[in-house]
Amino acid sequence: MNPDLALHFSRVTEEAALAAYKWLGRGDKNTADAAAVEVMRLLLNQAQMSGEIVIGEGEIDEAPMLYIGEKLGLGGEPVDIAVDPIDGTRMTAMGQGGAVAVLAAAEQGGLLKAPDMYMEKLCVGPAGKGVIDLQRPVVENVKLVAKAMNKKLEDMTLVTLAKPRHEALISELHHLGVRVFALPDGDVAASLLCCFEDSDVDLMYCMGGAPEGVISAAAMRALGGDMQARLVPRTEAKGGAEENVRLENQERERCSAMGVLIDHVLPLEALVATDQVVFSMSGITKGELVDGVQRNGDMATTETVVVSGASGTVRQIKSRHHLERKSEDIQSLVR
Ligand code: FBP
Repeated sequence: MNPDLALHFSRVTEEAALAAYKWLGRGDKNTADAAAVEVMRLLLNQAQMSGEIVIGEGEIDEAPMLYIGEKLGLGGEPVDIAVDPIDGTRMTAMGQGGAVAVLAAAEQGGLLKAPDMYMEKLCVGPAGKGVIDLQRPVVENVKLVAKAMNKKLEDMTLVTLAKPRHEALISELHHLGVRVFALPDGDVAASLLCCFEDSDVDLMYCMGGAPEGVISAAAMRALGGDMQARLVPRTEAKGGAEENVRLENQERERCSAMGVLIDHVLPLEALVATDQVVFSMSGITKGELVDGVQRNGDMATTETVVVSGASGTVRQIKSRHHLERKSEDIQSLVR
């Protein structure tokens, strides 16, 4: 993939973070998300590529989302794109730390094309590569990775999301002495922690969004980590049992139309089939890996991590923005 695209993708997540920040702490996650989507669409359309969203926030009739199959760019090399304009919409709306704007891109055919549904995900850093197996219970995986890393269980840390569906696992891990970081939301940034040596985190496990899963897989591949995942039908719909059945059938039909297996363990190579991949993540609010947007009048700073799979280069970019000098269409979204 043209290496110049990596810089353009970093601009895309930077501007999305700025657009989301405008709605920080205003209790309106949908408006924040719509603003981040709009600015991402605008900038992706300015890239020299023939891009296609292969996994994103929704389907064609779910405007204004960047929908699966949406074509973007000025033309050029074919590129698959996975987006999550805000990972942490609730955190943005509530002014909490850890929200990011994120995307992954790869040469055509490089990213898993799948519906926006739930995915069970297990990630590990380079030290545990080749050891994880999602067919086995999570606790067993923690033991296997501990052995591979030559660490005691009480020195292991797993990060997950603080959701009711993970409560039993969290208490099982606590009983074994494993440290658990349970975050309110945002599993992409959590996955990345496995691959950064200065973080305490060894593994990430959760049941969360499939787009976030594919984006994390791109980062795992580029950073030399490992990941396995499984698309799973939704089980916690608020509409009750009947609504769950309707949604599950819909998801199964969608998976079969897209030719992707549900309930099957997908190795990293099935999630991201190439090293020609780029990952970009910008902080909206302060997190462990990237700082949040800081604004002072029309000046703003953003922090971004960009990873290029082909070279393995990790760039940490701190940018200062003059909001009043941006193009009018971007100004209307970020100022
Ligand atoms: P959004 O901000 O896009 O809603 O995602 C936040 C998130 O925590 C993801 O990181 C995670 O994959 C997903 O939500 C979990 O889903 P749910 O909110 O349904 O538990």
